[in-house]
Amino acid sequence: MKKVITYGTFDLFHEGHYRLLQRAKALGDYLIVGVTTEAYDRTRGKLNVVDSLVTRIENVKKTGFADEIIIEESSGQKFSDIKKYEVDIFTVGSDWVGYFDYLKDYCEVIYLERTKNISSTMLREKNSRIQRIGIIGTGRIADRFVPEARQVSGVNTQGVYNPHIESARRFAERWEINAYEDMETFYQAVDIVYIASPHETHYEYIRSALEHGKHVLCEKPMVLQKEQAEKLFACAQEKGLVLCEGIKTAYCPGFHKLLGIACSGTIGSIRNVEACFTKLEASESRELTDRVYGGSFTELGSYVMLPVLKLFGKDYKSVRFDSIRDGSGLDLFTKVSLCYPTGIATATCGLGVKSEGRLLIAGTRGYLVAEAPWWKTSYFEVHYEDAGAVEKYSERFLGDGLRYEISDFLSMINGNKNGGFKLSRGESVELAGLMERFMRENGRERSF
Ligand code: CTP
Repeated sequence: MKKVITYGTFDLFHEGHYRLLQRAKALGDYLIVGVTTEAYDRTRGKLNVVDSLVTRIENVKKTGFADEIIIEESSGQKFSDIKKYEVDIFTVGSDWVGYFDYLKDYCEVIYLERTKNISSTMLREKNSRIQRIGIIGTGRIADRFVPEARQVSGVNTQGVYNPHIESARRFAERWEINAYEDMETFYQAVDIVYIASPHETHYEYIRSALEHGKHVLCEKPMVLQKEQAEKLFACAQEKGLVLCEGIKTAYCPGFHKLLGIACSGTIGSIRNVEACFTKLEASESRELTDRVYGGSFTELGSYVMLPVLKLFGKDYKSVRFDSIRDGSGLDLFTKVSLCYPTGIATATCGLGVKSEGRLLIAGTRGYLVAEAPWWKTSYFEVHYEDAGAVEKYSERFLGDGLRYEISDFLSMINGNKNGGFKLSRGESVELAGLMERFMRENGRERSF
């Protein structure tokens, strides 16, 4: 019996997929089809897959060509599948010519002519029209955003707005996009707005973008007052718009995996979370000279509070901020201590004091540890009482990682109702509440 194997995502099942499977089956007597998991697709940079794994499997099944369907979860699996299933022929479409020649040592490799003028990417783009992104603000993060957005199919960076038109022009030139001087013209030219302006300007920009009917992705911290966050989310909901806070860690596949493992029971019940992120900044930087909105907590607090809120939730019994300040009172280093009914947490961040950046999650059976840069999670370990029993986990983190939040944001715009769970509205509101409390305790009320 001649066994044939082929692999694919098979998203939005189309004629090209059907014809590929039909010809693959005709190459032998028994066809095995490997369907990729969402997690694997994301790690290989294939974002925005629309159909769930179950739907994609169902669609392959419906063709009647597959004798067996398996799941493809990681790179390197093809080789072991070929051995395990005693495969004679490996086949895929001609878009992969040469790519799988390394398998020729183990079986025959056949590239089948790809069906012209159809692909899942084309269908995804046709089904949901390209969303034009407008950027507000031209700082460092905006420069990282543009190349990341180019990795996500279904969006196009249309232009940039900055009240300092010269900065907007320079940015636009750099990225070959448009610079807008007038807000109304800017709003007319875009469907979604990415806000990367200074913290204190976020609220007004979000409000105005929502009022103009635009979906909004806003850099962290989204706003600095709980009530503002609540108002904005209510406004977005009323208008049927998506509003997301851009904390990249929340959307990256490695962090998602880490939370899953931490909550799986493998380390028992979680009792302690310690998150630390420090990044030394020059003393003349905006972060260390803006007496009202600068400082460690407003800059990095969203990252370190994220795992605490994700693992312990919002119902802490007490919260306390301790800071090391410069001569003018700006926090160079802040430690937040929280007590929960079932555990304790510390979230530490610093712009003027360097520490070991790590995320530690301690449970009744073991602990999970991710070293810096854990906020771009690509590796973590699980340890137990038996020091020899270490489990190691890794996940790819591509580029600057903003592509994951952009892709999730887009999928929510395109109707994925479950997309908000990675950073819920309640969590963003709570983060705004913590910012507010910190600023009030630090005598920065004049900002309100
Ligand atoms: N395929 C094909 N003809 C097409 C599209 C896909 O023969 N027009 C083949 C691919 O070469 C592959 C299999 O179908 O062997 C599954 O491909 P998949 O990547 O799932 O489909 P694409 O349409 O190429 O998806 P995307 O646009 O997301 O890359």
